[in-house]
Amino acid sequence: MSQLIDSNAWQNLINLQDKYQKTSIKDLFDNDPDRANRYSFQLDDLMIDLSKNLINQEIVDNLIKLAESANLSQSIESFFKGDKLNYTENRPALHFLLRDLSQSPFILDGLDLKLKVNQVLDRMKDFSQKINQSELFGCSGKVIKNIVNIGIGGSDLGPESVYLALSDYANPRLVIRFISNIDYDNFYTVLKDLDPAETIFLISSKTFSTDETIANALSAKAWLSQALGPDSFKDHLFAITANPDQAHQFGISTDHIFEFWDWVGGRYSVCSAIGLIIMISIGWSNFHEFLTGFYQVDQHFKTTPLVTNVPVLLALISIWYHNFWNYRTEAIIPYSYHLSLLPAYLQQAVMESNGKNVNKNGQVVDYLTSPVVWGQSGTNAQHAFFQLYHQGTEIVPVDFIGFMSSTYDDSKHRSKLLANMLAQAQALAFGRTDQVTDMNRQFFGNRPSNIFLAKSLSPKALGQIIGLYEAKIFCQGIIWQINSFDQYGVELGKVLAGQIENGLNASNHHFDFDSSTNLLLNYIQKK
Ligand code: F6P
Repeated sequence: MSQLIDSNAWQNLINLQDKYQKTSIKDLFDNDPDRANRYSFQLDDLMIDLSKNLINQEIVDNLIKLAESANLSQSIESFFKGDKLNYTENRPALHFLLRDLSQSPFILDGLDLKLKVNQVLDRMKDFSQKINQSELFGCSGKVIKNIVNIGIGGSDLGPESVYLALSDYANPRLVIRFISNIDYDNFYTVLKDLDPAETIFLISSKTFSTDETIANALSAKAWLSQALGPDSFKDHLFAITANPDQAHQFGISTDHIFEFWDWVGGRYSVCSAIGLIIMISIGWSNFHEFLTGFYQVDQHFKTTPLVTNVPVLLALISIWYHNFWNYRTEAIIPYSYHLSLLPAYLQQAVMESNGKNVNKNGQVVDYLTSPVVWGQSGTNAQHAFFQLYHQGTEIVPVDFIGFMSSTYDDSKHRSKLLANMLAQAQALAFGRTDQVTDMNRQFFGNRPSNIFLAKSLSPKALGQIIGLYEAKIFCQGIIWQINSFDQYGVELGKVLAGQIENGLNASNHHFDFDSSTNLLLNYIQKK
């Protein structure tokens, strides 16, 4: 048995789960009239209501003991100090520096990393202003108005979901597009109506070696070359990378490279130069507001005692369900059309960070780590899979994310949208058992949820929401004793894809893989 499972804190929580098995969320509200207040928190304009959870003071106290026994406070301190918490790759995780709006320097190994961050931010600012003021020209002299990001994973999901989320703030003159998939349909569809003379590509890749991104970047080079001549790429390609040498080799000049650093994980990179396309779209001051939202959460996370620290509580409540109630998945349901890609982005953040089965001592763990995270925007999700949430045998804790107003508001739509979100959380928690005559119409309730409620989907509120998830993920990784900052699990598939691709392109059709793969390859070759 691992130390974690053997610990008093863990064992106490097992006993508590047993003790409260028959207690319902309704009972908890009946027994504590002040409960909604007690478990609601305000971070600037964002309110987080945790009251509809299967928690009470005794449970929270014991969850905090679990965090204490994992030395969570010390780990938070060590994270913000820049210790090498990414121990498998022997480096720190310093994404918080990308949005550290304080005046303080951050010296590591004799270098002020804040200076570097601010230098790149200044270049991003100049570049995005140039585009917004129609002062960037392509090789044929036309004004650039189409900006296409080529990248995948963290080099795509953050920029694309945030761009979509903040599209009300976007400069309408600019056409912003994303190519991520190796599927040529993505490339073709995105570019088919664009004039190459008015188009630039931001090739976003931390490593500048990701197969999908390099293949799409080469196709972009060819697309430009065919329309504008072989040297046109020099004016139309830009790189965002932590590997500038590789970008140079690709033919991109230094003044076209926006750098970030190996201490920024791909899935934590949206505040780095990877966010350039967002800044171009919404402008510097809105981007700065986006960073402000993150910064506020970072400050809260760094300085607030565990017991009122919102991301810590979010992490602990999620562990409570996942490890002690065996609820295997968690949902993220933003009640916002513009946030339809947020679940996909956070899925990478959560599952690539904490989908690990080996602990920091190199042992295979004997407890669950990351839950499966999924979701879709509401109200659409209600008409797709909420049936299971209400009456299924699987219990899915839900994060509801809502906004009190929006840019193009229509009060009727707004109140319907908000009412639906609140009603779903209420129905899940309290159910309805008065239809005794028809079991099919019973709602047993007792299904937990968190509510995030912001004034509007502003850049700042979005920064706060994403910042909370990043910090929650961190806490869970510490408690599960895993490294949230590497991603070795994606490697094997990449290696095998290379071998299979060679097989597919070889003239000799003798395959030497497993018999299933051989059969499929033979089938493909015969067609
Ligand atoms: O899927 C693995 C991964 O390394 C992600 O962590 C990363 O966000 C993505 O690939 C893209 O990597 P890069 O930015 O280096 O192209």
